[in-house]
Amino acid sequence: MPSQIWFQAEPQNKRADFIGNLNGQNLASPSVGLASLPYDPFTPYLLQAKMIGVGAGTALPTGHKASLQDTEQTYGLMMHFSKGLGVNCTYCHNSRNFKEWNESTPQRATAWHGIRMVRQLNNEYRCR
Ligand code: HEC
Repeated sequence: MPSQIWFQAEPQNKRADFIGNLNGQNLASPSVGLASLPYDPFTPYLLQAKMIGVGAGTALPTGHKASLQDTEQTYGLMMHFSKGLGVNCTYCHNSRNFKEWNESTPQRATAWHGIRMVRQLNNEYRCR
């Protein structure tokens, strides 16, 4: 039987369901640099292909929507990158505008391709 190389975080044990949905947060997890961010930013972005984008393209509202949860999950993934590489956010971004590619470093483009490679591995590679 083929086995996957992907391992998902344990879902929250909600017991009798009185404690609500933590959304994977406030656990100081090492996967997100001990921040209170959602501890599984991998499933939406590296297994699924949810858009990693929270910044609006214009100064005034023009229909762009990103929820707080999307934002926190994006930051969780970014914290993982930074911790994993031992670098600051500015290794890839210009902190004046995290979204803008023209002001980002070449390393961000490498990371962009890396994200797609990991997605492909997680979805298509099968051990025999
Ligand atoms: C190794 C490179 C790298 C590092 C380090 C990094 N990022 Fe990113 N970041 C990216 C890439 C690549 C994307 C775009 C991903 C995509 O579109 O698939 C991105 C996207 C983002 C976005 C979404 C931008 C948008 O379009 O709205 C934000 C916000 C962000 N990063 C913040 C941070 C923060 C904060 C840190 C530090 C904690 C950080 N990043 C560290 C590579 C990096």
